[in-house]
Amino acid sequence: MVAGNGLLVPILGFASSVAFIYMTLGDLRLYFAEPQLGFVEKNGTQFMVDGKAFYVNGWNSYWLMDQAVEEFSRPRVRAMLQAGARMGLTVCRTWAFNDGGYNALQLSLGTIDERVFKGLDRVIAEARHQGIRLILCLVNNLHAYGGKGQYVQWALEQGAASSSSNDSFFSDPFIRSHFKNYMKTILTRRNSLTGIKYKDDPTIFAWEIMNEPRCKSDPSGDTLQGWIKEMAEFVKSIDNKHLLSVGNEGFYGPTTPEKFDRNPGDWASSLGVDFIRNNMISAIDFASVHAYPDNWFPEPSPEKKLNYLAKWVKSHIEDGDTMLQKPVLFTEFGISTQQEGFEPTQRDAFYSTIYDIIYKSAKRRRSGAGAMAWQFLAGGMNEYGDAFAIVPWEWPSTYSLIIKQSCRLRAIRQDKGLVDSDSSSICS
Ligand SMILES: *[C@@H]1O[C@H](CO)[C@@H](O)[C@H](O)[C@H]1NC(C)=O
Ligand SMILES: *[C@@H]1O[C@H](CO)[C@@H](O)[C@H](O)[C@H]1NC(C)=O
Repeated sequence: MVAGNGLLVPILGFASSVAFIYMTLGDLRLYFAEPQLGFVEKNGTQFMVDGKAFYVNGWNSYWLMDQAVEEFSRPRVRAMLQAGARMGLTVCRTWAFNDGGYNALQLSLGTIDERVFKGLDRVIAEARHQGIRLILCLVNNLHAYGGKGQYVQWALEQGAASSSSNDSFFSDPFIRSHFKNYMKTILTRRNSLTGIKYKDDPTIFAWEIMNEPRCKSDPSGDTLQGWIKEMAEFVKSIDNKHLLSVGNEGFYGPTTPEKFDRNPGDWASSLGVDFIRNNMISAIDFASVHAYPDNWFPEPSPEKKLNYLAKWVKSHIEDGDTMLQKPVLFTEFGISTQQEGFEPTQRDAFYSTIYDIIYKSAKRRRSGAGAMAWQFLAGGMNEYGDAFAIVPWEWPSTYSLIIKQSCRLRAIRQDKGLVDSDSSSICS
């Protein structure tokens, strides 16, 4: 790394997998050796990178953008991405939205805060520097960071909403067109630090349209299906380089009643979502699934929950192989520390259960494409946590489990000498 007077010093003979770019950090120009990432592609049920199948060991840190805005919290972003790389993790899922509220990216309908956009630029530049790819999610179904309810509230304030129901986010033409504008603003952004447009940046693993979409007001699923199709085709019309996912939790809906017994309860088939139908849409490249037995089953024993977890994961891998013929990525899984009798060893059992199934699937080139823990924090930010959050390096046995998974998934690719020296050395 050369910090200096603004002249790029050519270093001949440097490893060809490394390129130099400059970043302007305040007044200081720094030259980083950047790992050169290829675009993630897809071949049938497999993710591919550089012509070889790619299996994900990843995590969630939803807070990266808002923490990147201000000086005092910025070190957490680097600390987290660096720690991810040290655990051999390759993909982080995070929010590319913050609608209203503190450090909002969207201040009001269609008004973007450049200061916060620079925070997102920084997250992407930092991820690139650490050799980590990002899944960027574009809106929340839940209230955190604004979500669909904020859009509806904004439309109401402008006297332009057709209904005060938060589900009108999916059906109201005014809101639909504003959400499309928002997506377009993100996709076409040119990163102020790297100079690369988001839609051309291989650091982005994929776009995710919405975190955990549900539209209970139309349990037939037609409303959400129409919305997903329209939004997915819109994204692809701007960016056909990146993979695209819906952001589903995985609940089976009305088109597949034969699978209702795999849902966590009767309630799950009447949320207006439909895992198979939603993910059959051709603009959708891969399916996502979340796994929260603790939230879904308040009662049963840890053993019962582990059994359920295994069945849930296997059932969706089977869907990926047969009905969908697309990769299936478990983009959130977690165990709650607030369960009665919780012991940290239960967390290891939970992580191992899903990791083992993914590994077996990967070895057999089946559709189980990876798993991403919810959620990891850097130190000193407990207010961003929830019952599922951990600072991974504070839990040595979990930490080694995570590394073991990273290493065995990498071994399937048989590529030694990866650009990130930290993460290739942890496996030897
Ligand atoms: C894509 O998958 C097909 C069928 O599984 C396989 O024959 C082909 O070699 C794969 N392509 C690449 C580039 O790996
Ligand atoms: C609708 O969204 C708003 C804003 O996020 C929230 O305050 C409200 O509780 C939501 N309403 C329902 C019925 O969920």
